[in-house]
Amino acid sequence: MYARIAGTGSFLPKKILTNADLEKLVDTSDEWIRSRTGIEQRHIVEDGETTTDLAEHASRNAMAAAGVGPGDIDLICVGTTTPDFVFPNVGTLLQSRLGIHGCPAFSLEAACTSFMYALSVADKFVRLGESKCALVVGAETLTRIVDWKDRGTCVLFADGAGAVILQPAEEPGIIATHLHADGKYKDLLLYPDGVSSGFKLVREGKAGVQMKGNEVYKVAVNTLGQLVMETLNANHVRKDQVDWLIPHQANIRIIEAIAKRLEMPMERVIVTINTQGNTSAASVPLALDTGIRDGRIRRGQLLLLEAFGGGFTWGSALIRY
Ligand code: COA
Repeated sequence: MYARIAGTGSFLPKKILTNADLEKLVDTSDEWIRSRTGIEQRHIVEDGETTTDLAEHASRNAMAAAGVGPGDIDLICVGTTTPDFVFPNVGTLLQSRLGIHGCPAFSLEAACTSFMYALSVADKFVRLGESKCALVVGAETLTRIVDWKDRGTCVLFADGAGAVILQPAEEPGIIATHLHADGKYKDLLLYPDGVSSGFKLVREGKAGVQMKGNEVYKVAVNTLGQLVMETLNANHVRKDQVDWLIPHQANIRIIEAIAKRLEMPMERVIVTINTQGNTSAASVPLALDTGIRDGRIRRGQLLLLEAFGGGFTWGSALIRY
């Protein structure tokens, strides 16, 4: 038994923050942001808009695309690092919004790789016969935890949500997922505050994402390069058999480096970073849904999804769509 993608959906908050807007907040320029990251604008939440709000819109779009209703969903698995509350988790908040009762609903946290982890977990539920219709979401309001005085990070991050519906199938579907992590890199990209550390930095007004951008960049390129080759080799797939690379959208230069490693022209890579920025856990399902809805990604094609994030965590999925 395998899991196949029955439908996808996504959602971006209405409010747009351009590079020109950021020039008014920090010492930066549109030229610097475009040339170093590829980002031209990003969507950000309004006051009061939450991760669950974004997840709900994306989920409803995915359910409509798959032709399933609330009564069909029997598993909700949300990847996010920016939950509305400590608890209930975003999975159960989403469950309540969608009018679903009783099925397992949870969120898991692996920074920008959260959606890849969520997809891998839900894939196993479906393969084991424990889910016949799984809702898998990557949703994030990362701009809530950004330090708007730090030009090295605040220009990068953004908000959004993407969702997929998984159903059982005789043929893949999801051929394989590959997940990794290495906590020795914990100090390169982090938000060092939270419940059990007492929200000390939040109370002092010093909280925010911290990143050693240059070092993250180098490890990301090396690690993702190895990850895509591991994924192809383990599944006996050649580079030229992959139809679409659907990468985490952190930096256009990282995306181009991985495409080069795969000898893929950029025409076969789904790029959303220019208009969406880095939406963390939402970026891969947002890119997937973008490519499907605009007709580039077609049924039967071979997709390689990959992501990298704080921890570090990294993961991929090889999917016959
Ligand atoms: N505007 C203008 N200048 C900026 C800037 C900004 N927004 N942010 C940093 N700079 C400056 C730095 O202060 C530095 O100045 P200095 O040379 O006077 O010290 C200069 O630009 C170069 O900084 P550096 O960090 O070396 O730039 P870079 O080419 O590495 O690009 C990133 C910075 C953040 C775009 C890049 O390192 C990156 O994308 N890293 C990976 C980030 C990532 O993927 N994070 C998420 C993983 S999920």
